[in-house]
Amino acid sequence: MSKQTKPKMKRPPLAKGTASRLLKLLFRRYKGKLIAVFVCIITQAVIGGGAIGIMMQQVIDHIDGVVDLAQLDYVYRLVGIMAAIFVVGILAATIKEQLMAIVTQSFLNDLRKDLFAKMQRLPIKFFDRKQSGEIMSVYTNDIDAIRQLVSQSIPMIITATITVLTVIVVMATYSIYLLLITLGAAVLMALIASRLGMGAAKYFRRQQESMAKLDGFVEEMIKGQKVIKVFTHEEESKQDFDKVVGDWYLNARNAHRYANTLMPIMGNMGYLLYAILAIVGSTFILMGDSYVNISLRGVTPLTVGVIASFLQQCRSFSQNIGNVSQQLNSIAMGLAGAERVFRMMDQQPETDDGYVHLVYARYDEEGNLVESDTRTGIWAWRHPHKAEGTVTYQLLQGDIEMHDVDFGYVPEKIVLHDVSLHAHPGEKYAFVGATGAGKTTITNLLNRFYDIADGKIRYDGININKICKPDLRRSLGMVLQDTTIFSGTVKDNIRYGRLDATDEEIEAAAKLADAHDFITRLPQGYDTMLEADGANLSQGQRQLLSIARAAVADAPVMIMDEATSSIDTRTELLVQRGTDKLMKGRTVFVIAHRLSTVQNSDTIMVLDHGRVIERGSHDDLIAKHGMYYQLYTGAFELE
Ligand SMILES: Nc1ncnc2c1ncn2[C@@H]1O[C@H](COP(=O)(O)OP(=O)(O)OP(=O)(O)O)[C@@H](O)[C@H]1O
Ligand SMILES: [Mg+2]
Repeated sequence: MSKQTKPKMKRPPLAKGTASRLLKLLFRRYKGKLIAVFVCIITQAVIGGGAIGIMMQQVIDHIDGVVDLAQLDYVYRLVGIMAAIFVVGILAATIKEQLMAIVTQSFLNDLRKDLFAKMQRLPIKFFDRKQSGEIMSVYTNDIDAIRQLVSQSIPMIITATITVLTVIVVMATYSIYLLLITLGAAVLMALIASRLGMGAAKYFRRQQESMAKLDGFVEEMIKGQKVIKVFTHEEESKQDFDKVVGDWYLNARNAHRYANTLMPIMGNMGYLLYAILAIVGSTFILMGDSYVNISLRGVTPLTVGVIASFLQQCRSFSQNIGNVSQQLNSIAMGLAGAERVFRMMDQQPETDDGYVHLVYARYDEEGNLVESDTRTGIWAWRHPHKAEGTVTYQLLQGDIEMHDVDFGYVPEKIVLHDVSLHAHPGEKYAFVGATGAGKTTITNLLNRFYDIADGKIRYDGININKICKPDLRRSLGMVLQDTTIFSGTVKDNIRYGRLDATDEEIEAAAKLADAHDFITRLPQGYDTMLEADGANLSQGQRQLLSIARAAVADAPVMIMDEATSSIDTRTELLVQRGTDKLMKGRTVFVIAHRLSTVQNSDTIMVLDHGRVIERGSHDDLIAKHGMYYQLYTGAFELE
């Protein structure tokens, strides 16, 4: 159960393109709104970074020279203009925030939808390798990290850049020397920020990964609660948890240590710069004519107003650099989140080159098979022939052949060797064999959850690779070995087999599967709500429901994997009778450990370690005195 045995994956370096990909994606979708946001940011930055400072300098220097009250009129006017500028600033800020809220939330909404759509297209193989908690973490933690990045950090960086540039220009029009001191400090601040920021980024990325591991672990422990209790593994799983959470703690602690050190350093450097500028500035003023103040405008006087304005600019300068450095952790976390989201988006989707489709069919007056818009109970394969530009229809019969199929879930371990079989239309074909012999694997190949390494599978003579996957799966009614019940009513769960099934059809299917009896005894009958994964049902009841679900799908070929393993022998007989009715005219594959279930099959195929070792009817196999005989009579030698 412990994840410690997993080999440590080497972490790929933070994809360089992540930031630009995220920005491109954002910009492509919300171009208009983002341009409006940009205009608001520029307005805000110019006001905060330059206009207010310049006005302040004007006011101070004017008051400095005031000798009579009448001259204050100009000051009043200036203050009025300042107030108006402030109002514009507030407006710009409000509009920006509103727009950003819309952009961020709809971006995240789209991202989640894209992710889910992508996930639905991923092959089963992808899920084999991942814990579901780990995948869920992408939807929650990673997307949330992106929210912070998009809604806060990116606008903050843009605001800061524009403000700092404005401030530099305004400072240059006041005093080049003082500007040089400021820039010197800025370089130092940037160096420290990038050094600490890089450290933070590394750990924030690890924190995000260990968070996913943590989610995966917790999810597994919740699912495994009963097993944990049965084996009294509470203490061990607590220790395992401590390890996983310890990893997360270390990464989170280091990440925040770097990030938190940064803020006070930046803040205090800002104050230091402020003090230095104040001292140097006032010294320059006191030096009088012996100091020549050079600015972009040439030689300009250094007044008290200029120094006051300069100091105000300096505050806004260091404040903005500080703001950005404060965002470094969100940036690192957001990029780490985006990287994980993109990694999932970039997964190879399940490919489908199929061009043969399953359609409803009927016979026209001349007895030709033609396509029908409505359900007729007859299906046909629509086979387009590109070269001739024609389309032919072939009756779906349920003739399934496998030729020398080899397959392994991983290339190193072949699970099926040279498996061949031919199930004729309407035949009941059983697979028996020990656990792990490869019975379920064969059904996984028939519905193309996995693709075969070698050999051929034909369905009504058509290579199944040519059949479009959803149609292939629609033609197979499957009762999977693991039953899955979705949250919803009993009726909803059966209707999952075919969404347009009427209530009567659902009831008929439930009767066929012998589920009707127990359903009517449930508190609200068919409308009883089922809890997560059918926790309020017994295992056997869950199996009956999944049989009913397959029955309502009414597919021409049925595959029942251990469908009756948890059902008592009496119900099993009933189900068998029901399913035999259900099977009429269909090809059916049955997998069962209980040989009584498969006895009446037309063909029984005995598998051992992925090889077919015997095949024939029950009577043939008994007469043969081989493995089946031993299994059946219980004479099987235990090794
Ligand atoms: N997703 C998977 N990834 C890797 N190996 C797998 C996977 N599923 C099954 N296997 C391996 O394939 C082999 C055959 O498994 P399969 O599920 O087909 O057995 P089975 O005959 O259905 O057994 P049971 O009677 O227990 O259901 C086993 O050795 C198993 O370890
Ligand atoms: Mg199985």
